[in-house]
Amino acid sequence: MKLLKIENSSISGEVPISGAKNSALPLISLTILAKNRVTISNMPNVADINTMLKLLKLLGSEFEFENNILNIDTSKISSTTATYDIVKTMRASILVLGPLLARFGECRVSLPGGCAIGLRPVDLHLKALQKMGAKITIENGYIHAVCNKLQGTEIIFDKITVTGTENIIMASVLAKGETKILNAAKEPEIVQLCNTLKNSGVKIEGIGTSSLTIEGRDDLLEIEPLSVIPDRIEAGTYLCAGAIANSKLTIKNIILSDIENIVSKLKDMNFDFKIEPNKITILPTDTIKPINIVTSEHPGFPTDMQAQFMAVATQADGVSTIEERLFENRFMHVAELQRMGADIRISGKVATIYGKNRLIGADVMATDLRASSALVLAGIIAKGETKIHRIYHLFRGYENLIKKLEKIGVKLTLCDEE
Ligand code: EPZ
Repeated sequence: MKLLKIENSSISGEVPISGAKNSALPLISLTILAKNRVTISNMPNVADINTMLKLLKLLGSEFEFENNILNIDTSKISSTTATYDIVKTMRASILVLGPLLARFGECRVSLPGGCAIGLRPVDLHLKALQKMGAKITIENGYIHAVCNKLQGTEIIFDKITVTGTENIIMASVLAKGETKILNAAKEPEIVQLCNTLKNSGVKIEGIGTSSLTIEGRDDLLEIEPLSVIPDRIEAGTYLCAGAIANSKLTIKNIILSDIENIVSKLKDMNFDFKIEPNKITILPTDTIKPINIVTSEHPGFPTDMQAQFMAVATQADGVSTIEERLFENRFMHVAELQRMGADIRISGKVATIYGKNRLIGADVMATDLRASSALVLAGIIAKGETKIHRIYHLFRGYENLIKKLEKIGVKLTLCDEE
């Protein structure tokens, strides 16, 4: 087990943003519906991607993955069982359910357990597939889905679900007739999945809206080479590094429209920006203003940025509030920030952050991917040394994290747990 020691550091310079993990995961799963060998570039080399590739290999796919380019061929898939040992390490494995069922008519996918931030049920995925004609039973902790030909229909999601929307979009590609998805998620990763389908000849309407219509087809797809969109959450995390340190920092390889909600909140905190093609620079401010945040689905404020903004809010002059509306337990970073001297109080879904507080280095525990990144941000400005334990969480979604942090001046050491 590794731990990360971070010294109080001044930061500056430029950070290149990698491909988006949460866009790459459904795209890898989509290759299950391809008849050709698919090339995907700008593929982030992070733990979650390697876990998904391990699953695809277990099913019988063949691939090469180097220099952020993935070449994958799923034509020889021979198994349709996604086993517990893989699914338990990464819930997004559930994304193989729709494509496997659509292509093979039967599959078994281990029920993904919950995780630190919540129970994370997949009931909406299953309900939608049942409505498309799938027979679904839960057997020994596995979802067993059977349907020799899914039937297009109208699906109305009771709650907006990102991977639920992605699963049904992929399932509908080989369904009979038209599938209409209402209350669909609209995250940029959904838009990339839909654009990839459109570029592969699938008739799909409503891209980027909460109402999608997909015309099913009989044959598998020919998927042209594509490139994963930049990671908006990684970009937002590094912008928050500039914010918490109140330093000038440039982030390059971005899609500005995907981070509008994040930039707007930082502007409300009195930060200003220099915008150039494919890059954005956060500029230091005389005072960091407090902020009120309510997390919601895209294009609202992303829950995946909540922890990072909480760290920044500890440096604001005044009282900030953050309401977490999507997950029932996504305040695990609060206790750790409190250990560093932050004054944060929780009442139900709302955290109140009393700034400005001088943070002091301490031993802290990473609990989930985004909470861990908040602790890194706090460690950059804390007095003395911060030791972040269980930092494997960080390597799930932040590519070349140590190199990128060192390049902007963060003084850190990666070492074994004592
Ligand atoms: C995706 O998770 C992301 N993961 C998460 O990012 C992100 O936090 C989340 O969307 C919300 O934006 C990937 O894309 C791989 P949901 P997902 O289904 O799809 C409830 C990260 O840090 N729900 O949109 O699992 C659910 O409990 C990760 O990269 C049901 O009740 O999230 C939650 O309260 C963390 N039943 C809400 O909906 C269901 O069947 C939103 O969940 C499905 C979801």
